[in-house]
Amino acid sequence: MMETNRKLNRREALKRMGLLVAGSVAAASGTFALSSCSVPKLRRIIFYFTGTGNCLYVARQLATESTTLLSIPQLVKQGNYDFEADEIGIVYPIYGHMPPYMVRQFIQKARLKAGYKFAVLTFGARKCNAVEIWDEAARKAGHTFDYITTIIMVDNWLPNFDMNEQMKLDKHIPESLQRINADLAVRRRWHEPVTEEERAMHAGFMAYTGLDPEKGFVMKSEKYFRVTDRCVDCGICTYVCPRGNYSLTSRGVKAEGDCEFCFACIHNCPQKAIQFAHLPDDPLLARGEVNPDARYRNEHISLYDLKAANNQLL
Ligand SMILES: Cc1cc2nc3c(=O)[nH]c(=O)nc-3n(C[C@H](O)[C@H](O)[C@H](O)COP(=O)(O)O)c2cc1C
Ligand code: SF4
Ligand code: SF4
Repeated sequence: MMETNRKLNRREALKRMGLLVAGSVAAASGTFALSSCSVPKLRRIIFYFTGTGNCLYVARQLATESTTLLSIPQLVKQGNYDFEADEIGIVYPIYGHMPPYMVRQFIQKARLKAGYKFAVLTFGARKCNAVEIWDEAARKAGHTFDYITTIIMVDNWLPNFDMNEQMKLDKHIPESLQRINADLAVRRRWHEPVTEEERAMHAGFMAYTGLDPEKGFVMKSEKYFRVTDRCVDCGICTYVCPRGNYSLTSRGVKAEGDCEFCFACIHNCPQKAIQFAHLPDDPLLARGEVNPDARYRNEHISLYDLKAANNQLL
């Protein structure tokens, strides 16, 4: 670890904020080694994936002075998979208790060298066996995580929750962050326990939804989302989508392509012009959404932050 009191240049300052585009910091060789003499020696890397900001917020709260935050969608886009640090962490939202597909793709290709690896999974209501699912996916890809835990946040799953109600709930986030930071400070080796009941609940969920356990929520934007005439062509959806699925065309905004179902688009549209398609036979969306007027972004994360984290128009 190296920390100095000298004034940071803009590049270093952005890096500490977690806003520096991953592709621009990765060496041409493809290996981002924190021991390189061209950048200050940094101790911890935290990779994150976020749709509505919870995970970016958590990643920031787990960042020490000498931490670099890196956006998984941008690393995947740039093809950067080689990393080395003293400690490596990952923060992602669980989707049906599973990692987002892009997180899975990232870990399958990543070559991570670190003395300590940790994973923090955010969720909103029911975590089930998410810890075990991550452990297994990571092990399959050749990674052992020393510490895996969960943290409850606002649940951004619109089909079941009214965001206005979710935001009123006290989910004891500061206390959870304090617990996790204390664990990381002593490099605790621990996986949060999972019960038989939680395993059974996940099995029931998979049977009901018919999702592929190797992929989780990989959907098609064109099937699930529609843009109404409230759209004012502001372009925000083109920046916040971690898959870059939205484009402004002469005939309005179009969304197509493999979709993480992260809901960054639908939650961040200032006009609430993005809505779910009417899908009465879909097990996930048969009942539509609870409150089409309520949208959410983590209160500590600005739209600018989210655009910087997910921007694929690089
Ligand atoms: C597609 C999808 C599936 C989700 N599945 C679950 C789940 O199984 N259990 C749960 O407690 N929360 C679930 N959530 C809620 C998110 O995990 C939670 O709100 C997370 O903190 C969002 O993180 P973000 O703001 O960084 O995107 C789901 C959200 C989405 C969009
Ligand atoms: S964010 Fe909403 S209003 Fe802006 S271009 Fe996209 S759909 Fe239209
Ligand atoms: S289309 Fe929407 S839900 Fe799908 S990946 Fe993009 S932002 Fe996420």
